Amino acid sequence: MSTITLHNKSFVPYIKEETILKRVKELAKQIESDYKQESPICLGVLTGGYVFIADLTRKINTPVQVVFVKMSSYSGTQSVGSIDWQLSVPDLVTNKHVLVIEDIIDTGLSMQHLLLALEVKKPKSVKIATLLYKPDALQYPIKPDYVGFSIPKAFVVGYGLDYDGLGRHLPELYVLQKEVEAGKA
Ligand code: IMP
Repeated sequence: MSTITLHNKSFVPYIKEETILKRVKELAKQIESDYKQESPICLGVLTGGYVFIADLTRKINTPVQVVFVKMSSYSGTQSVGSIDWQLSVPDLVTNKHVLVIEDIIDTGLSMQHLLLALEVKKPKSVKIATLLYKPDALQYPIKPDYVGFSIPKAFVVGYGLDYDGLGRHLPELYVLQKEVEAGKA
């Protein structure tokens, strides 16, 4: 792993693939033992979550159903903090245990909107698994149940996460070099 450039920005190695996969396995085991009675419906959040969703669900050794939502937060003069749904919450979550699988919780805005949309469908329970969590960036009262890594308020790419469309394919995580130099990561 060495420094990479995406668009005009440099990123340095942050969390190794083997460290991520080890942690994903641990989370899967914890999830398996917590949902002994009834398997959850795994609700994966696209697009950034696609690698984590695939790796985590394949390590959960019970027959889980995997479905997806896709949304993006956008800001504009008339729609600050709004969410655009490209794939909305499916009706089959009603009366089921739901495990939301997300790549990263930053401010918590997207997750807050997702939880509200889920509530309308009346699931039996909702838990959240996120690969990355930035507690210092949080602006909404989101408490994830399963966290891969708590990280500082710095911009990361790889393992599904992108910078302006690039970097999702990288098997490990990288962090913005200038934030490391500024002592943020
Ligand atoms: P939130 O709504 O502020 O919690 O942000 C959630 C979304 O912002 C994530 O699903 C990502 O798409 C994006 N995001 C937040 N932080 C990062 C980052 O460090 N790298 C890449 N994407 C990020």
